[in-house]
Amino acid sequence: MNVLGIDTSCDDTSAAIVVDGNVPLSNVVYSQICLHHPYGGVVPELASREHLRNIVEVVDQAFAKAAIDQQDLDGIAVTIGPGLIGSLLVGLYYAKGLSFVLGVPFIGVNHLEGHILSVFLEESVPDFPFVALTVSGGHTSLYHVAGFGRYTSLGQTLDDAAGEAFDKVAKLLGLGYPGGPVIEKLAVEGNHEKIRFPRAYLTRGSLDFSFSGLKTAVALFVRKWRETGEPLGISAADVAASFQESVIDVLVQKVMEAVEKSGVSSVVIAGGVACNKTLRDRLIEQAASQAVAVFFPRPAYCTDNGAMIAVAGYHRLFRGERSDLSVDVRSRFPIDDLEPILFDR
Ligand code: KG4
Ligand code: ZN
Repeated sequence: MNVLGIDTSCDDTSAAIVVDGNVPLSNVVYSQICLHHPYGGVVPELASREHLRNIVEVVDQAFAKAAIDQQDLDGIAVTIGPGLIGSLLVGLYYAKGLSFVLGVPFIGVNHLEGHILSVFLEESVPDFPFVALTVSGGHTSLYHVAGFGRYTSLGQTLDDAAGEAFDKVAKLLGLGYPGGPVIEKLAVEGNHEKIRFPRAYLTRGSLDFSFSGLKTAVALFVRKWRETGEPLGISAADVAASFQESVIDVLVQKVMEAVEKSGVSSVVIAGGVACNKTLRDRLIEQAASQAVAVFFPRPAYCTDNGAMIAVAGYHRLFRGERSDLSVDVRSRFPIDDLEPILFDR
């Protein structure tokens, strides 16, 4: 079954063709990083206009790279939320048009379900049940995953997402957008023991996250540091390393707590922040000591991409689930809320 997956939830225009939910034939991503870089974050109006300019070309390239014709398509999967409304609309209406014209079914997909299932594009896949951490610019959430389409939320961020904290700290340090990759690179040269930033573990046993206090602590530190000149040989690299260490400590501890509470033996980490090598290494090390297997998608499937949406859509289309043309986009969209997809079985 050839499924076209489209994602325009934030600042990447992406389309992919995936066979049977696990063989990617193409995965085209048009990144808008250069456009948003001067603003230190995504500007929603600019993002939607740029999606509109590029969606046709990106989908055409996905077909060309997969070397299949539109007539060979069996289904279309498109992100309907959560995300930026103007951006989501471009992908959804393009998918609706294509579905109508080609006479193939389409399904609205939750972006987070895509991130969780992105690992199924890899050779090595986890057995159900497993715990999944989706950690990106917009989300930091833990799920118990009992099977395809069977997700229970275990915890989520109460304020900023981890990736958002990376982006904001990078902006504070004048490093540009997106922050994750530059902070990670700079942190290699720094000493994470130089500054002890706070770790928000919240109440005992809580699997929720909070990163706004950490962001404020870094902001206050940087302000004081700049006012007084560079004290005691602390460099921007030390700030980056100490900040990154604080985020990783919390993520690793909460993931391991979720694994222990759920009694599972596999964990999946997905989303843009899962590209972080230090996070990956720490989790692998920690999990190995507790006989838990860790699964990561490769970096290209961690950041936003159409292939993961095709995987999630495939499993729903295969079960006979369908969206109809009245389905709409949603800025907020809990993963277990299936009502807006408007199934027409
Ligand atoms: O999944 P994604 O592409 O988009 C969202 O759904 O948000 O994630 C983007 C986020 C950004 O906040 C970016 O700074 C972060 O992922 N990110 C990283 C790294 N690469 C990307 N964070 C930490 N370390 C990285 N290497
Ligand atoms: Zn994402």
